Amino acid sequence: MEPATEKRVTMDEITALAKRRGFIFPSSEIYGGIGGFYDYGPLGAILKRNVKDAWWRENVELRDDVVAFDSSIVMNPLVWKASGHVDQFSDRMIDCTICKHRFRVDHLKDASKCPDCGSKGSFTEPRDFNLMLKTWVGPMEDTAAVAYLRPETAQGIFVNFKNVYQSARKRPPFGIAQIGKSFRNEITPGNFTFRMREFEQAELEYFVPDDGKDMAAFQEWVDKRKRWYSDYGVRADRLRFYELTEKERPHYAKAGIDVEYLFPWGWGELESIAHRGTYDLDAHMALSGKDLRFFDEASKAHYTPLLIESSAGMDRTTLTMLVDAYEKETSTDPTGKATERVVLRFHPKIAPVQAAVFALARNKPELVERARAIESDLRRRGVRTQYDEGNIGQLYRRQDEIGTPFCIVFDFDSLDDAKVTVRERDSMQQERVSVDALAGYLDEKL
Ligand code: GAP
Repeated sequence: MEPATEKRVTMDEITALAKRRGFIFPSSEIYGGIGGFYDYGPLGAILKRNVKDAWWRENVELRDDVVAFDSSIVMNPLVWKASGHVDQFSDRMIDCTICKHRFRVDHLKDASKCPDCGSKGSFTEPRDFNLMLKTWVGPMEDTAAVAYLRPETAQGIFVNFKNVYQSARKRPPFGIAQIGKSFRNEITPGNFTFRMREFEQAELEYFVPDDGKDMAAFQEWVDKRKRWYSDYGVRADRLRFYELTEKERPHYAKAGIDVEYLFPWGWGELESIAHRGTYDLDAHMALSGKDLRFFDEASKAHYTPLLIESSAGMDRTTLTMLVDAYEKETSTDPTGKATERVVLRFHPKIAPVQAAVFALARNKPELVERARAIESDLRRRGVRTQYDEGNIGQLYRRQDEIGTPFCIVFDFDSLDDAKVTVRERDSMQQERVSVDALAGYLDEKL
């Protein structure tokens, strides 16, 4: 095969592939969908879980200074009063009086003419629109029972700071991590799963003493997160760590970095890393009247630790993995014929299927039984596998499109030499590997 040429994927191609192969579907599609909500199909659910597991393993399981947490989605509304979300968590919006479409003011290039219907001077005055989704708790739908679906998971951690450090016997520097759903009533959801109304965040709140080493701790987290994206194969030239200027940061933040990926439509934020000082704990102490400070046994003094936060969107990271992995290659086979293939070059750790096992022929029980036995053996050993049979060309094509790193074929020769053909996704190189050595072979590569 000649070297491949690569074209940049469009979002339409990503959306079509996601639907066709079962990664992501519009939510409640048979009823016309609902803007800003998506469902993860059989492969997408595994892909997203693998992304979350990769985050969790690195930031919780491999650290003795980070503990796990899982707070409720609905909390006392005062949480959101203290955090500022009730009063300030809003976007400026305007409506077009002709086509009735609604826009975020900061998304409009030209505020004199509606981008959807082209009318001039048809906009209403800008108004603030609070992004929190409301619900009612208890049997009465009156204002006393109004509550909010959390717009971030972080506040659940802050209000539990004392419960956690006391029960887990932790002292700063230490972190509290959680992954969970958040909700924002975005005015203009869009770009597929990039901006949704229900999404998942992975947040790490790292509390440090005010001992002059806080900026070093901030930088450590930035470097760690850089390594994480690179470890999972996100292309360096499509990732940037944008340093927020003083003007762009909230007044209380000492430093801030946005991690951005170059999507087909431009740069989009995946994660924000911020030095938030004592702002969050201070705000909850002020409104609740409860002391959330840390008591240092050595100095017998109370102090409020500083906070370094890393907040990553799991849907956006999953979308990044899909977009970044996608390649459409045109190559020429030995006869000079041009062939095209779509391949997702997922990192093996996050690929939904790691090894597909095929029987070369469908109606040959001796092949089918042996291939199925290999598949179930690998599955039991913890490899994410899939069994299939039939036309090998078509099977390879399907597995390339879902990003399976290895395809294993049990053919007629296998009956004699107890070897299978292993085909590697990216190079398309094939080699014969003995069935006995297969698990070890894959273990080394996955
Ligand atoms: N606790 C800090 C916080 O929530 P944020 O920058 O508002 O910070 C963090 O959100 C991350 O959550 C974003 O970088 C993004 O990845 C994700 N996120 C925020 N809004 C989102 C939305 N509407 N749809 C999908 N992901 C979203």
